Amino acid sequence: MYILGVETSCDETAAAVLEFGDGSAPKVLSNVVASQHEIHARYGGVVPELAARRHVEMIAPVLEAALEEASVSAKKIDAVAVTRGPGLVVALLVGLSAAKGLAWSLGVPLIGVHHLDGHVHSLYLPTGEESDAPPPFPHLGFVVSGGHTDFYRVDGHAEVTHLGGTLDDALGEAYDKVAAIMGLGYPGGPIVDRLHAKFLEANGSGADPVQFPRPFLEDRPYAFSFSGLKTAVLNYQKERGLYLSDRNLPPWARPQDVPEEVACAVAAGFQEAAVEVLVEKVSGVVRRENLPAVSVSGGVAANSYLRVKLGERAEQEGWSLHFPARKYCTDNAAMIACAGGFRLTEHGRESFMDYADMDADPSWELGEASNG
Ligand code: KG4
Ligand code: ZN
Repeated sequence: MYILGVETSCDETAAAVLEFGDGSAPKVLSNVVASQHEIHARYGGVVPELAARRHVEMIAPVLEAALEEASVSAKKIDAVAVTRGPGLVVALLVGLSAAKGLAWSLGVPLIGVHHLDGHVHSLYLPTGEESDAPPPFPHLGFVVSGGHTDFYRVDGHAEVTHLGGTLDDALGEAYDKVAAIMGLGYPGGPIVDRLHAKFLEANGSGADPVQFPRPFLEDRPYAFSFSGLKTAVLNYQKERGLYLSDRNLPPWARPQDVPEEVACAVAAGFQEAAVEVLVEKVSGVVRRENLPAVSVSGGVAANSYLRVKLGERAEQEGWSLHFPARKYCTDNAAMIACAGGFRLTEHGRESFMDYADMDADPSWELGEASNG
């Protein structure tokens, strides 16, 4: 069975073809991602109208490339899976309209997938490492991306319960804002991760970077709040005249560039504080929920320091820890096709044929009915 996945919820136009066999992990035949990072970089975050316009330009070539790379003709597609929400409505609508039209013309089912269900399902795509097993059921699903820092109890492919999450900025968003404050570019996560690694290389692993507060929120075990940490970085920069986020100033009127050693020490301080909070919270929640395993997905799951620190804690405490392959951490359509394929297997083709009125749902909560 061939599933075509489509994803346009934010700033990636993506399409993928997966082959589902008899119970084994799905095969990824193609996974095409057209990123818009360079369009949004100068704004330090995603501009919805620019994102939508670019999706309109890219959706047809990306779909064609995904089919061509998979060597599967459109006529052979058994179902289309598309991100229906949450996300930017003007962006979601581009992928949804294209997917609906395609499914309609091919006479195949259309599965409306929750974007976070996609991230949770990125764990069921092959990582390329034989030693990696997909997480067992039940497990704690931790989604940490540009829009979410949320805990889920995952009892099965279609049984996902929200346990709690961030009260304000998602961690990925905090990474992006901190990088914007420092004039480092977008998306911030990989840049901050690299500067932290540079700091450790230059100063040794025991060195102390700039100290920032750790928002543990001890009385709210499932909640996060990163806005205070972000403001602490902003204040640190401002106090030293290193505040660079006023992009309205012409380049010659801006404050001096942040010297690299300072940028590295600030990035390291931010990342160490954020990851320490993350590790403590995951450890607390997995204990409270009495679960044997944890999966981490979403863009921030690509972070190398987080992978190391969480891995150390998992080993100390005896729970198993699962990450997707790095290419499936940030937004992609393979994870959407994967979630769609499992839903189709579980509910059957007929449950997904009545999609003429399917609409985008920018604020859809995971756990609500799909295909509404
Ligand atoms: O999952 P994703 O592609 O989009 C959303 O669903 O939001 O996540 C994007 C976020 C961005 O905020 C980006 O800065 C962050 O993931 N990110 C990272 C890394 N790679 C991407 N954060 C930390 N470390 C990384 N290596
Ligand atoms: Zn995402």
